[in-house]
Amino acid sequence: MPTTLEMLDQRRAEARLGGGAKRIEAQHAKGRLTARERLDILLDECSFEELDMFVEHNCAEFGMAEQHFAGDGVVTGSGTINGRLVFVFSQDFTVFGGSLSERHAQKICKIMDMALKVGAPVIGLNDSGGARIQEGVASLGGYAEVFQRNVLASGVVPQLSLVMGPCAGGAVYSPAMTDFIFMVRDSSYMFVTGPDVVKTVTNEVVTQEELGGASAHTAKSGVADNAFDNDVEALLAARDFIDFLPSDNRTGVPERPTDDPWDRAEPSLDTLIPDSANKPYDMHELIAKTVDEGDFFEVQPAFAGNIITGFGRIEGRTVGIVANQPMVLAGVLDISSSRKAARFVRFCDAFEIPIVTFVDVPGFLPGTSQEHNGIIKHGAKLLFAYAEATVPKITVITRKAYGGAYDVMASKHLRGDLNYAWPTAEIAVMGAKGAVEIIFRQEAKDPEKLAARTAEYEARFANPFVAASMGFIDEIIMPHSTRRRIALGLRKLRHKALENPWKKHDNIPL
Ligand code: HXC
Repeated sequence: MPTTLEMLDQRRAEARLGGGAKRIEAQHAKGRLTARERLDILLDECSFEELDMFVEHNCAEFGMAEQHFAGDGVVTGSGTINGRLVFVFSQDFTVFGGSLSERHAQKICKIMDMALKVGAPVIGLNDSGGARIQEGVASLGGYAEVFQRNVLASGVVPQLSLVMGPCAGGAVYSPAMTDFIFMVRDSSYMFVTGPDVVKTVTNEVVTQEELGGASAHTAKSGVADNAFDNDVEALLAARDFIDFLPSDNRTGVPERPTDDPWDRAEPSLDTLIPDSANKPYDMHELIAKTVDEGDFFEVQPAFAGNIITGFGRIEGRTVGIVANQPMVLAGVLDISSSRKAARFVRFCDAFEIPIVTFVDVPGFLPGTSQEHNGIIKHGAKLLFAYAEATVPKITVITRKAYGGAYDVMASKHLRGDLNYAWPTAEIAVMGAKGAVEIIFRQEAKDPEKLAARTAEYEARFANPFVAASMGFIDEIIMPHSTRRRIALGLRKLRHKALENPWKKHDNIPL
């Protein structure tokens, strides 16, 4: 007869087996880890403390009374990542396909409530066949309980979703409401309706991967942020990523020691800008040379490459970086880049992460496609996001800052705290050629006159001095001193206090 202690051990061991050895084998055969193996990689060694290990479903329909598995298809609890507390849930595909029952949802809700109470991130590892079909509406109710908490937690604690298997139907809306989504290539998919329904309704023939795989969502739809080759890579990346994020919206950014000198000069930046205004250069180089140890975690690298977003550190403290990328579409602002950057800026502002903006933008992308798909409203999102942000905002214009895009990109007028320009900056309503063709239209047929007018316009406006003379640029800085100037700026702004007028919430152009 086993003692009560032995019995507990035995029941724990059974619970840890989830749906049993055969189903674990099937999970491995798909190249996927189990729910618990994933947590082992995500969390610091031995830091996981499980809750609700013995929760079971309460369904008696369709033979369910005879099928019970401890934990009911989701492993929940807390642990640490590099010593910092996080709450986690990890759906167990070996138990009813990780499908969400009423009790499964209750478990997720419990850790979300705790995370919210104590101020710690929630990380969800999603691998689920969706609503527990045998439970019907009880399962739908469970989803909605999770959705409600996703919304309440938004802007209070960071929420990260790793989609590591199926995620279909309404189930996609929980990850969709979290701050960031990581996916695993060729192993995870997200769609509201699957290939069969798509075929019936639209006659399109499409695979799961094409419809909602990692590349579809990280490169085309922008629904997911980053894609990784396998579970292990995704989980290790999540650890690095969480290191950048504050635990909640009140504790401020985490700090990590660095040997990188705050005033490190980068002489190579003095020649980063090519001689010709039409030649591209890689904005990643400036970012890598500015942040501590070149450590930059890019968010959405495969989507709207004309703007770069991601996290780095200066003097060990996290900053959010937004930068136009001249290598892609000349760094123009379009619908996708505006949406991408707006959401990123709002995340930073919600979690008190200072924003550093590098500007080289020729304006907004023209065309019927952009206009008819709402560039006005989408561009306004970025403008709105920068304008409402009260976190420290430091802007460096490296080259072009033209037209409305100059205003949008964290300009002085949108309460930029420190607005710097490199000597190579060109701050104007538009490029010289376009400008003279409009204001000297009568001379347009005479190429010589036009060239002279263009040169005159360039001499007048293709520099940062006009803006600096108006105080719109606080200082023209040497490119090699960019890191030092940003570090000094962030020190100054550390205790910045700025509040927007009271309101229930704003009405950002969605
Ligand atoms: C209950 C489920 C289940 C579900 C899978 N299983 N999905 N049990 N409810 N939703 C069970 C299977 O019966 C099986 O049990 C085990 O999980 C593994 O499933 P397989 O089909 O063998 O796995 P695989 O071949 O890998 O296919 C995975 C799958 C498929 C593509 C996810 O299982 C599937 O299509 N499931 C149904 C998906 C679905 O229609 N869900 C409802 C969507 S509507 P055994 O005992 O054999 O191991 C929805 C609404 C949400 O989710 C609304 C929120 C507002």
